[in-house]
Amino acid sequence: MAREAFYITTPIYYPNDRPHIGHAYTTVLADVLARWNRLLGKDVFFLTGTDEHGLKLQRTAEKHGVSPKEFVDKMSAIFKSYWEKLQISYNRFIRTTDPDHVETVKLALSKIYSKGLIYKGVYKGWYCTSCEKFYSEGEYIEKDGVKLCPLHLKPLEWVEEESYFLKLSEYEDTVVRALESGIVYPPQYAREVLGRIRKEGLRDVSITRPKERVYWGIEAPWDKSHTIYVWVDALLNYLTAIGYGRDEDRFKRYWSVVHHVIGKDILWFHTALWFAILAMLELPPPRRLLVHGFILCRGVKMSKTIGNIVSIDDLLETYGSSDAVRYLLARFSTFEKDMDYDPDLFRNAYNAELADTYGNLVRRVGVLVRRKLGGVLRRREVDEELARVADEVKHDTMKLMDRYRVSEALVRIFDLLREANAYLNRKEPWRAEDPEPILYNAMEAVRVATNMLAAFMPSTAARLADVYGFRLLGLEELVFGSWESYRVKEAPILFKKLRA
Ligand code: MSP
Repeated sequence: MAREAFYITTPIYYPNDRPHIGHAYTTVLADVLARWNRLLGKDVFFLTGTDEHGLKLQRTAEKHGVSPKEFVDKMSAIFKSYWEKLQISYNRFIRTTDPDHVETVKLALSKIYSKGLIYKGVYKGWYCTSCEKFYSEGEYIEKDGVKLCPLHLKPLEWVEEESYFLKLSEYEDTVVRALESGIVYPPQYAREVLGRIRKEGLRDVSITRPKERVYWGIEAPWDKSHTIYVWVDALLNYLTAIGYGRDEDRFKRYWSVVHHVIGKDILWFHTALWFAILAMLELPPPRRLLVHGFILCRGVKMSKTIGNIVSIDDLLETYGSSDAVRYLLARFSTFEKDMDYDPDLFRNAYNAELADTYGNLVRRVGVLVRRKLGGVLRRREVDEELARVADEVKHDTMKLMDRYRVSEALVRIFDLLREANAYLNRKEPWRAEDPEPILYNAMEAVRVATNMLAAFMPSTAARLADVYGFRLLGLEELVFGSWESYRVKEAPILFKKLRA
C-alpha cells in the first residue's frame, strides 16, 4: 500500500540579509513536524527556500553594488548554511529564480489571465518596500505628517503607476468559505481575516509592477513591460515544488495534504490572496495553514529594519548545540501568542530540562550499566508501572502532535524522563543485588523518550542510539520493553550546565 503523504512548507524568506531567530523559529517548527511525520511512517515532502525577486532585493543588491542575481546567489547559500547548522531536513530548497519556478509562475498566471481575471488599471497608494506591501488609510501610522509603516516604522513611499489587477473581489465568497472551514490553526487567525473582509470587503489587488521601476522580477506573460508582484510570484512556489503543470500525479498527491507554516505577519497573503489564486486555478485551498505569533525582543517584533535582532549564531553559541536551540525554540513556541525571547527563561529550561532531567538520567543509566554490568544490558522483566507511563506518554504525545501542540508534546515526553529519574531514585540500582531489571526499565524509558525526541533533537537521538546500542524506530514499532539488549560504549554528558 502506498504510504500516506504529508507536504509541509515554510514561508520562503527574503534573502536580503542572513536569517535570524524569527526565521529559525518557523523553520524549526516546520522541521519538527516534518520529522515527526516521518517517524509516523509518512512520505513527507518538506519545502523551504528563498523569495528572491522584488524591489526590496533589487535595492539591497544595488546598495551592495552587485547585480540582484549575484546578491541572491550569495545570500541563498547563507540561508542554506544556517539550515544545515540547525539540521533542517528539507527535501527541496526552492529559489524563486529557479527555472521551473519561473515557468510555473508564467503558466499559472497565463491561465488566470485567459480566464479574464486580470485587467489593466492605475495603482495609487502608500507602499512599504520592507513589507513589499501597500498600506491603506487606517493601516499606516502618521507621525509629524509623515506616513509610516506600522511594522517597520519607516516612511512609506507614494506610488502611482499603471498596473494589472487581479479580480480578488469576485472570490470573496470562496475565500470566506475556506476561512470558515476550519483549515486555519489556531482559529483566531481565521476570525481576524474574516473580520477584516467583513469590514472592507475583498478588493482587487495590483499584481504587476512596471518593469522600468521593478526590473527584478518575472515578466508578465501578457505584457513584457511589467513584472509580476513579488507576493504572487512567491506564493506560487508551493505549487512549483511539487510539480504543478509538469507532474500531475505527484502534484495531486502532495497538494491534497499541504500544511503551510507561517508567521502571523503574512496571514493576509496566505489567506485572502492565496485562497483566491488557488480558486482561480481551480485548486482547493491548503489542507492546513498553521500560523504562529512573533518572537519579540523586549516587546517588539524582531527585525533587521528595527535593529533588535538576536542572531542564530548567538543562540548556537549560548546553548552549545543546534539540538539545544531547536529544543528551546520548540519548547517555548506558541501559535496563539507572541513569545518574548527571554534569555533567563531559556537558560533555566536548558539547565533544568536538558541538563538535569534528560542529561542526568542518560548519564546515570549509562554509568551504572558500565560499572555494574560491564556495559551489556539485556532484556529483563518489564516494570508495569513505568511501562504504563511510557505508553500513556507516547499516546498523548501523538495526539498532541496531531493537533500541533508542539510545546505541550515536549513537556509530555519529559514526563517520562522525570518518571524514570524518580524510578531510579526509588529503586536504587546502585544498591541492588541484581540491578539489571531496574536499569533495563530505566533504559527503555530513555530509549522511548529519545526516539520521540528525535524529531526535536535529531543529533542527540542519533548519538545516543549509537553509544547505547539501540536503533531509532518508527513510532508504530516503538514499544516499551521490546528492545533486546544494549551495549553501552560510553556514558555521555549530553548537555553541559550553563552558568548564569
Ligand atoms: N518572502 C515573504 C514570504 C513569502 S511566502 C510565500 C516573507 N519573508 S520574510 O523573510 O519576511 O519572512 C517572514 C516569516 O519569517 C514570517 O512569516 C515568520 O514565519 C518568520 N519571522 C520573521 N521574523 C519573525 C519574528 N520576529 N518572529 C517569528 N517569526 C518571524 O515574508
